[in-house]
Amino acid sequence: MTNHPEGPQACPALRDYDPFDPGHLADPYPLWRLAQREAPVFYVEKAGFWAVTGYEEVLEVARDPETFSSRESLNFRPVPEHLRERLPNGFPQGYPSLINSDPPEHSRIRKIANQTLTPRHVAALEPSIREIAGGLIDEFAGDGRVDIIERFAIPLPVIVIARILGVNEQDLEDFQRWSNAAFLMSNPNLTDAEFEQCAAEHAELNGYLLERIAERRSAPRDDLLSRLVHEEDENVRLTDAQITSVTAQLLIGGNVTTTDLIGNMMLTLLSEPERLGGIRADTKLIGPAIEEVLRIKSSIRGLFRTTTREVELGGAALPAGATVWLVWGAANHDAGVFAAPEDFDPRRPNLVDHLSFGKGTHFCIGAPLARLEVNIALELLIERLPGLGLVEGQQLVYPASPVSQGVDNLELEWTVPPW
Ligand code: HEM
Repeated sequence: MTNHPEGPQACPALRDYDPFDPGHLADPYPLWRLAQREAPVFYVEKAGFWAVTGYEEVLEVARDPETFSSRESLNFRPVPEHLRERLPNGFPQGYPSLINSDPPEHSRIRKIANQTLTPRHVAALEPSIREIAGGLIDEFAGDGRVDIIERFAIPLPVIVIARILGVNEQDLEDFQRWSNAAFLMSNPNLTDAEFEQCAAEHAELNGYLLERIAERRSAPRDDLLSRLVHEEDENVRLTDAQITSVTAQLLIGGNVTTTDLIGNMMLTLLSEPERLGGIRADTKLIGPAIEEVLRIKSSIRGLFRTTTREVELGGAALPAGATVWLVWGAANHDAGVFAAPEDFDPRRPNLVDHLSFGKGTHFCIGAPLARLEVNIALELLIERLPGLGLVEGQQLVYPASPVSQGVDNLELEWTVPPW
């Protein structure tokens, strides 16, 4: 089947598809499975972009940055007039560096960034992540009930990334406020006033980072920011604009994704009690269970590319300049790759073939860190909160975003011993 913006599509459900419909956000899989059968690549009239849902087609896009460019992938609204002086290079994460650049520029920056967040650096963070996660749990363990998103899943990744970057403890509160604003800004549903507020906070973050970068130039420390400042490739170092961009992308990429993974994980494991029971009985299943949660409910629903030429993909003819929505979440449920894709099975043989961290050029630089954080989180939550379960009858709110897939709230309860 060939479909294009001007022509009618054969299947009415795809023609009328609204990616932000609350029912679809709660359970997108029936529609995505239908698309995989009928038209794995189709035009979403209500949103003005092409959806790529089939596993093979998603891989084809991810592996061909020449045809499917990432340059426009963080195309936010323009910087408000009154902030232009404070943001001469635009919003920091919008300056081309990692997720929004193409090879060869991307390759050089990525090579330097890789050196600053190696498996060795990540492994060394374990005690500090344990301390942060344990401290957060201490604050509510005696209460018997908590919104795990607000009190644990949101603060954990932001505190971890702040420590990695080298943010001073006294700046942590500001840093958390700026991090939230940086992420919120990508939300297309913000009002102009809300956007302006986030943009102003983002300008503060930019100023803060530039000051810290200047400090690290004269006096390096043992932190990621210092490594970004001093690491080089063929005697070329990153510019201040590139460093602030990489930092902002680490911040944005590393926060809400990990928050969503923790929420999705607790929801998936607790919605059928024997799932958590199985993990309690055999803690070696923690890692595989996290991979299966990533597959079954990927924190990133989809990300964007722009075609640089006309191209045939999955039976559809895409024009040059088309916006392409790469739906990792759908590809992870492709029945041609994952048998019984709706089943939660941490023992499935191709567990790690999921695409939740992307594939190819832009494969997630923070995947080892996210895996470590969430492993520690699950281990400690199970250990510290006996009889953990979902609070019955709660109304879950799903973010109306083409990018993130999680829950905005999740109430958990457990048994508190009387002593
Ligand atoms: C569960 C957690 C996470 C998920 C599901 C996730 C998912 C992804 C995906 C799908 C991509 C590919 C983007 C593309 O192809 O356009 C990506 C890239 C990226 N992620 Fe993550 N991520 C997570 C955690 C993190 C963390 C903890 C960090 C930072 C420490 C991070 C930083 C980044 C950056 C900077 C990129 C761009 C890499 C590049 O373009 O070379 N992510 N992530």
